[in-house]
Amino acid sequence: MDEEGAAMDALAERTTSDHTTTEIASGRPAPWWQTGILYQIYPRSFQDANGDGIGDLAGILRRLPHLVELGVDALWLSPIFPSPMADFGYDIADYTGIDPIFGTLDDFDALLAAAHGHGLKVLLDLVPNHTSDHHPWFEESRSSRDNPKRDWYIWRDPAPDGGPPTNWLSEFGGSAWEFDPATGQYYYHAFLKAQPDLNWRNPKVREAVHDVMRFWLKRGVDGFRVDVIWHLIKDEEFRDNPPNPDWRPGRPPVESVVPLYTTDRPEVHDVIAGMRRVVEEFEERVLIGEIYLPIERLVAYYGTDLSGAHLPFNFALLNAPWDARRIAQLVEEYEASLPSGGWPNWVLGNHDRPRVGSRIGREQLRVAAMLLLTLRGTPTIYYGEEIGMVDVAIPPDRVRDPYEKNVPGIGVGRDGCRTPMQWERGESAGFTEAEPWLPTAADSDVENVENQRDDAGSLFNLYRRLIALRRRRPALTRGSYEPIAASGDLLVYVRSLDQDRIMVALNLGAEPVSLTVRGAVSNGRILVSSSADRDGEEVVGEIYLRSHEGAVVGLDPAP
Ligand code: GLC
Repeated sequence: MDEEGAAMDALAERTTSDHTTTEIASGRPAPWWQTGILYQIYPRSFQDANGDGIGDLAGILRRLPHLVELGVDALWLSPIFPSPMADFGYDIADYTGIDPIFGTLDDFDALLAAAHGHGLKVLLDLVPNHTSDHHPWFEESRSSRDNPKRDWYIWRDPAPDGGPPTNWLSEFGGSAWEFDPATGQYYYHAFLKAQPDLNWRNPKVREAVHDVMRFWLKRGVDGFRVDVIWHLIKDEEFRDNPPNPDWRPGRPPVESVVPLYTTDRPEVHDVIAGMRRVVEEFEERVLIGEIYLPIERLVAYYGTDLSGAHLPFNFALLNAPWDARRIAQLVEEYEASLPSGGWPNWVLGNHDRPRVGSRIGREQLRVAAMLLLTLRGTPTIYYGEEIGMVDVAIPPDRVRDPYEKNVPGIGVGRDGCRTPMQWERGESAGFTEAEPWLPTAADSDVENVENQRDDAGSLFNLYRRLIALRRRRPALTRGSYEPIAASGDLLVYVRSLDQDRIMVALNLGAEPVSLTVRGAVSNGRILVSSSADRDGEEVVGEIYLRSHEGAVVGLDPAP
């Protein structure tokens, strides 16, 4: 046995004897958002039903059987509300309507009822940090300095030189302050100038958004993913952000300052607790927060005594180097940082970041799926991940993303990860009969749901098998996580709950790897292998993985 093998052997010895099961110790059944799997739909790109080249609610309704077949539990819809679409729906002009591009409130009710009929929960995107500049609240606010809604947004006098009040920068390039000549003041916008920030220090704003939440919760919506929740409160003293000494040209301009006074302010937790109380007025609803922060700051968003978000989205894997040791470290750091009772979650992709296959290479997609669906905590699947969609190269004349338009050429564009879902062979992959709003992948005749459905060894069927297994095995749904080995390209861990014990072995590289396993993890049987051709194979004292292979192993009961 080589040195590496010996080291892993030793690691494998300190195998699980004490299976922590605190999360179910209370005896109460775990809530659905802990045991379930979330699926993010970007509505513009899922399915067009009315032939305008843009996805809609009727299209989603038509495709619900896909989600049932996949086996997920909930769908989260990116914004579907009336919007000028400056930021494709994240600029909302009416929080309680449906944009005609997507359909009507009746269409929404029909989708909700059908989803519930299939046992699927439906989450909406709540965008409380900012509205559209066409929202009536902002139109009133900007109309005069003494308008009752003036203080619903963040207005400041110019600096003594007439320039912006602070050095705060917009996420999408340039100053975050826009001068409004009509009233001679600047308003703050963390994103586009068409997205003025609401003033969450104003109790009337809180009440108004709480009412929006109740509007949807009463309609039967199962919860919200809250957009940029860590942005909601800005410094009361309007202090300048410090410069970032590590910033280099080629990085997004917003990173040239440290957002010390514009995000992650202590008072934000009170705002979130207020939203949580609204969600708690209803049964079994969930509050999820979008938060890009390092793990030690992220976990504060569970709130004091878990009064914050049920699930502060954990994006650690979005940027993590695809390296066994680094991934093992971040899982351990995350697990160790969680507050008592805080439920973990994992995300591999979303509508703002390059798709996982483009980042780590297509050949690792099966391993990534296995990781996502076997770690401890609620997984979120981004539409198309289940068939291995990768970013589509967008020709300059088809760029739609305002971020790319404002800050061109440094790779921040988000269109590539928002392209039409690839359903079937043929023109536009079955997404639309018209010209799609973004180009469809060139290889959509090969990589699509239709092809993969019929191929037992496809990625889609791997997702299905992993999801089904996760549902069946308590160790995967609710069990503890124990690291076994992380060395070279090999990552191994065990999930267990009482007598149910499952080992996950992943090869993150192209070279075959093997691991001698001893003690309580030495024997078992492969339940799911990444290429489907080793299911049922016995494991006795050694795990062998081919290039880019992963295996989920059901361990024999401890002697
Ligand atoms: C969030 C959304 C992103 C949007 C931004 C502004 O990060 O995910 O798509 O552009 O907020 O609302």
